[in-house]
Amino acid sequence: MALKRFGVSLEENLLCELDELVTNQKFPNRSQAIRFLISKEKVTEKWNGNEEVAGAIVLVYDHHKKDLQTKSTDIQHDFHDLILSVQHVHLDHNNCLETIAVKGKSSQLKLLSDQLIALKGIKHGKLVMSACS
Ligand code: NI
Repeated sequence: MALKRFGVSLEENLLCELDELVTNQKFPNRSQAIRFLISKEKVTEKWNGNEEVAGAIVLVYDHHKKDLQTKSTDIQHDFHDLILSVQHVHLDHNNCLETIAVKGKSSQLKLLSDQLIALKGIKHGKLVMSACS
């Protein structure tokens, strides 16, 4: 897509904050930082507007808690149409890391994520909110 240039007027302190963002997040330049902020805002809008989105649910738990795995699987079957893939990694003798790739209406993905993360025995859980495009 063709690049368009435009002038931006910003207060000095805001420009400093933009440059801090560029430095801290290792963007090559201000344009890339602005692209990042626009796409981040668009993703937030999609999630708030209950649009079709994609993401990942990350869970860390102790695999010795058998009841937890059964409950987690039951919930995942209830929402099977949202789940694209499940990756299970054995972190060490006790701990498992599960990454569940999901796609669907944001409210449904949040419901699935909330139910999984709330299970007793989950040590850490997080929903990574991204977009389909
Ligand atoms: Ni495991």
